[in-house]
Amino acid sequence: MAPHDPHRRHLEGLARRDRLRALAPRAGLDFASNDYLSLATSPELRAVAEAALARGVPLGSGGSRLLRGNHPEHEALEAEAAAFFGAESALWLSSGYGANSMLVATLPQRGDLIVHDALIHASTHEGLRLTRGEAVPAAHNDADAFADAIAAWRARGGMGRPWIAVESLYSMDGDRAPLAALAAIADRHEAYLLIDEAHATGVFGADGRGLAGALEGRENVVTLHTCGKGLGCEGALIAAPRVLTDYIVNQGRGFIFSTAPSPLMAAVARGALALVRDRPERRDRLAALVAAAAALFEHELGVAASGSQIQPVILGDNGRAMRVAGALQQAGFDVRGIRPPTVPDGTARLRVSLTLNVSETDVAALVAAIGAAL
Ligand SMILES: Cc1ncc(COP(=O)(O)O)c(C=O)c1O
Repeated sequence: MAPHDPHRRHLEGLARRDRLRALAPRAGLDFASNDYLSLATSPELRAVAEAALARGVPLGSGGSRLLRGNHPEHEALEAEAAAFFGAESALWLSSGYGANSMLVATLPQRGDLIVHDALIHASTHEGLRLTRGEAVPAAHNDADAFADAIAAWRARGGMGRPWIAVESLYSMDGDRAPLAALAAIADRHEAYLLIDEAHATGVFGADGRGLAGALEGRENVVTLHTCGKGLGCEGALIAAPRVLTDYIVNQGRGFIFSTAPSPLMAAVARGALALVRDRPERRDRLAALVAAAAALFEHELGVAASGSQIQPVILGDNGRAMRVAGALQQAGFDVRGIRPPTVPDGTARLRVSLTLNVSETDVAALVAAIGAAL
């Protein structure tokens, strides 16, 4: 066998199915990023970073949090995040992917059940590969399906605690989880509710706290707030009862055996929380842009509005999705095609992301271009 044969054959197979991925430079109007509030390039956040550098905050942490890596900036961010989200405690990790997979791998105990939404993010699936609990999917956004899965497990003799894992706002569909119904089910079944707020943090809820704001602080609720999307920087904050964050500090392998994230970025993330809390204007401007886009997508393209800043245009076929995305990119719009396995088979799509990096005029031009490309 020639060197790398299995890898080459795999890539060729992906190409045959229009699934080959490749890195592309960023170009064109931003309809692809998750920098919803345009904080990543904002003068305000840049000033936070400059002030932190000026007062000597280090770039690197130098080690794991449990060794030399713990820095007052990490603890300041976590204290402020807990207060901001309304949780007893918060813990900051380098990425949402790592945080989610570690949460699911660490918190559920042997004998527990994890019922997850069928469309849950890959990072949760990663944790499910490692979990000691039993995992079952539930139909997307169908609260009854979650309750039924728990009831069926109890009927089979399930003795542990159930965990309900959802995203508050789905990353590829832009629709919302029925959080109030799921919280009621969690209470009824003595279940935990694990809510990934990745795409809602900073964008929705009072002060930009996300869609689960009303549930934060409950003894059975754990939320994940990524910092690389609406907050414009990177990392992820777990908000939870203190006993659970203490448990992660002791048992979360992704927390223990990894270099602590940059103290400078902790200062920036803390600045981003303050910005979304104190400056609602960006959130209001995004809401206006989303409303204008919804009307255009519905009237001009006949595409049902998602009700959020994530607007899918489902095309079905992988090749078609990539061709239409390519035509839009040629016309100066950075829109990406999303294919299986990121989305279910037969639902390849354009994922249009609305951010303050574009204007209403840009959105109107994009909608016209999509109409022409289709
Ligand atoms: C729903 C959801 N959860 C978690 C993540 C991972 O977060 P991060 O990008 O910080 O690793 C993403 C990112 O794509 C996401 O969409």
